[in-house]
Order: sequence, then C-alpha cells, then structure tokens
Amino acid sequence: MNKPSASDAPSPDLPQQVAALLEVSKLAKRVQGPEGELTLLEGIDFTLSAGESLAITGPSGSGKTTLLGLLAGLDTPTAGEIHLNGNAFSSISEDRRARHRATTCAFVFQEFHLVSDMNVLENVMLPLELAGLAKPASTAKDWLERVGLSHRIHHFPATLSGGEQQRVALARAFAVQPRLLFADEPTGSLDHANGKRVIELLFELNQHSGAALVLVTHDPQLASRCQHHLELHEGKIIKKVFSGEKLVEESAIEKFIHQTHPS
Ligand SMILES: Nc1ncnc2c1ncn2[C@@H]1O[C@H](COP(=O)(O)OP(=O)(O)OP(=O)(O)O)[C@@H](O)[C@H]1O
Ligand SMILES: [Mg+2]
Repeated sequence: MNKPSASDAPSPDLPQQVAALLEVSKLAKRVQGPEGELTLLEGIDFTLSAGESLAITGPSGSGKTTLLGLLAGLDTPTAGEIHLNGNAFSSISEDRRARHRATTCAFVFQEFHLVSDMNVLENVMLPLELAGLAKPASTAKDWLERVGLSHRIHHFPATLSGGEQQRVALARAFAVQPRLLFADEPTGSLDHANGKRVIELLFELNQHSGAALVLVTHDPQLASRCQHHLELHEGKIIKKVFSGEKLVEESAIEKFIHQTHPS
C-alpha cells in the first residue's frame, strides 16, 4: 500500500482550493406521463458558494419546485450531477442523503408546514432533536427570540397569524444552522406587511448565519435582492445572472422564446 507522500499534504503557503458548496451540472429531470415522456428540467448548470443567495423565478409549472427537490436530494435527477461540498449525490446512498438533509439543509415553504399538535417551542425543537444536536430547548428558545416570538412559545400553530407561523418556520429552519436554506415562495400565503417582515428576517438571518439561500419567488423585486438569479421557462434556464454578470445574452433568450412560442 502506498503511503501518502509529503507532496500529498496541503501546502500552507498555497491558497487552498475551496470547493463550491453546491455545484450543479447538466441536470435533467424527465418523467413518464400518460402521453409519453415529459421533460420537467433540462440543462441546469450553476454553482453556489457558502453564504450566497440565489433567486429562482419563472412562471407556474416552469420547474422551480422540481429543481429545489433535486437540490435537496428529495428527488433524483434523470441526468446530470449535483455535488455538495465536492461530493456527488449520485455516489451516496439514500440513507446518507437523508442524513445530509437533516444536518445540512433546511426548508421554508409557502404553507409553513408546522406540526399542528405541537406547540411553537416543540416545532422548533423537532429538527434539532432529529439531528441529535445538544440543548434543543435552549437553542429553540434563542431562535424564537430572534424572530420576535418569545411570548408565544407555548401556543399551538392554529392560534397564530400566518406571519407568526412563518416566523416560527424561519426559526425552525435556521435553528439547525443549515449550510443551505431552501425557501419556496415563503411569502405566498402572507399579506404584504407580513410578507415584508418575513423577507427582512429571512435575509437578515441569511446574512448572519452564513447559510447559502436558494429562494423561489414570483416577485422580481425580491429576486433582485439575491446575489444571483436564475429564470426558468419550461424547465430550461432562460436567464442566468450571477453576481451582476449576465451569462446568457438577451438575444439568446429572445431566440429561445421565439423558438418555443413562435408568434
Ligand atoms: N412527478 C411528476 N409527474 C409528472 N409531472 C410532474 C411531476 N412533478 C411535477 N410535474 C410537472 O412539472 C412541471 C413543473 O412543476 P413544478 O412544481 O416544479 O413547477 P413550479 O415552477 O414550482 O410551479 P409553481 O410556480 O406553480 O409552484 C409542472 O408542469 C408539473 O405539473
Ligand atoms: Mg412550485
């Protein structure tokens, strides 16, 4: 057996190559429909680093939620690959993917998805307990304080307003200190004022936690607050703006739309 040589050890003098947190290449998802094969996603490529924010926009049915499902390892792609911290999803077992979800990712959905027969504190403690983290009760209380709900910890979700429920969901998501936070239209069920408050909190927690944020939204203004932006149309990227740089030319987008929707 070969022993590692001195040259295998990382040199302290050279800058270390930091692997992207999330690397997505040539991702595709196809399913069998009643009338043949359906392409839900095709040719999805992008890279996201720790602490960055990415908005995914596009019309209803364009594949946004399907893409989040693949990124979170909830679903498997038909083609292409996702690397998390340099590890290919396809090379890890479903068990390890589930563990990765519990320890690395957190989700905030349009419909909050709180457990109705658990109180606010228990809801936030749940993922902490599932991930086997120490002191779940005090960590949960800290996060509930950050979202301004210390006075509601023994209340049940049904007795809270929509905005309050979403703030509980944010506390629950950030409490596990995820590396990646997925938010799928997190303000879709809220009125303007509550939606605004939830969004301010989401970006504030994102900045302070260092978690990368992947945010699905229909709101162009909200999308513009993220560093990066992908726009989907019928499962394909039609606009890709990363750190202010347009990687897909406008003319290519117009050509694509013209090809798929000839006037
Ligand atoms: N398992 C499946 N089998 C067949 N079709 C599916 C499946 N999952 C999703 N779809 C279809 O794929 C397309 C993309 O769905 P998806 O939920 O990703 O859209 P979306 O962009 O999130 O839309 P919305 O903005 O309405 O939430 C839709 O046409 C949907 O009907
Ligand atoms: Mg969706």
